[in-house]
Amino acid sequence: MPYPVYRPRRLRESPLVRRMVRETRLSVDDLMYPLFVVHGRGVREAIGSMPGQFRLSIDELQKECKDAASMGIPAVLLFGLPQEKDPRGSEAYAEDGIIQQAVRAVKETIPDLLVVTDVCLCEYTSHGHCGVVEDGRIKNDPTLDLIARTAVSHVEAGADMVAPSDMMDGRVGAIREALDEASYPETPIMAYSAKYASAFYGPFREAADSTPQFGDRRSYQMDPANSVEAMREVALDVDEGADIVMVKPALPYLDVVARVKGEFGLPVAAYSVSGEYAMIRAAGHLGWLDEERAMVEALTGIRRAGADIIITYFAKDLARLIEQGRA
Ligand code: PBG
Repeated sequence: MPYPVYRPRRLRESPLVRRMVRETRLSVDDLMYPLFVVHGRGVREAIGSMPGQFRLSIDELQKECKDAASMGIPAVLLFGLPQEKDPRGSEAYAEDGIIQQAVRAVKETIPDLLVVTDVCLCEYTSHGHCGVVEDGRIKNDPTLDLIARTAVSHVEAGADMVAPSDMMDGRVGAIREALDEASYPETPIMAYSAKYASAFYGPFREAADSTPQFGDRRSYQMDPANSVEAMREVALDVDEGADIVMVKPALPYLDVVARVKGEFGLPVAAYSVSGEYAMIRAAGHLGWLDEERAMVEALTGIRRAGADIIITYFAKDLARLIEQGRA
C-alpha cells in the first residue's frame, strides 16, 4: 500500500483553493431581518439583552428598513409592541394597530423590501400567552379566529407574507382559508412549524415584553427532546397550506433543520433566535471569543444544515461582511 493517495490537506493549503471547494456559501439573499416596532416618534430604544438591536418607532423603522434594503437584505420580519394589552390581544388585529401602521409605512416608502409579519397574540395579551385563556388554560380553537383575523389585517395593510408563531393546532389552515376568503390567495404563509419551548427566547421576551404572566408555553410549543414529532408538525402545516416551513431556534436544532430539508420539498427557514444572538454578542463583548468569526461560523452551520432562509439579528452585520468578501 503506497502512502495514501488522497491527502485532504492538499485542498486546504491555499486560500484560493479553499474558496473554490467551499461547499456552503452565505448570501445576503438568504437573510431575513427581525425588527421590533413601538408606538411614538423618534424612538430608538436599545434592548438591553440584545446589544445592537432596538425598539423602533415607525419613522425609525423606515430608516432601518431603508438601510437593510440598501444592503441587499430582501426581507424584514416585524414584531409589534401595542399601546395597551388586553386578554384577547385586540391590537393584534386592529386596523390601526402598531404592525398594521408599520406595514403601511414601510411598504409606502421602501417598495423593494419584503415585509413579513409575525402573527401571534403574545405581545398583545395581558396574560402574555399566544392564545385565548379560559379557566387558566390556553384554548386552541377559540384562538384560531383571532390569529386568522390578525393575518388578514396584516395583509390588508400590505404585508407580503405572514408568519404564524403561536403553535396552535390548525392555525395554518385557518389563516389560509381566511386569506383566500379575503381575496388574498397569492399571499404566502411562512409557518413556524417546529417551534420549540426554548430558553433561548429569553432576550426576545424582554424586547417584546411578552413573558407569560403565569405558567409557560409548554402546552403549545414543542418539547426540545422531540424530532419525529417535528416531522408530524411540518407535515400538518404542509397539508394546511404552508409555503415555507420554519424550525426555531436554529443552533440547538440543526438536526431538525436537516431532517425537514431532507423529508419535505419545501423551502426551509431557520430562526436563529435572540438567545443565540445574545450568547455570541456577550461572549464577544467579554473577549471570550472572536465575535465576528463565531457569527459567520454559526450562520454557515445553519445554512449547511439545509436552511434556505436564515432569520437573524445579525443580518446587517453579515451583509456587511459578505459585501467585503469576509464571509
Ligand atoms: C412569539 C414569538 C417568540 C419569538 C418569535 N415569535 C417568543 C416566544 O414564543 O416566546 C422568539 C424570537 C427570538 O427569541 O428571537 N410567539
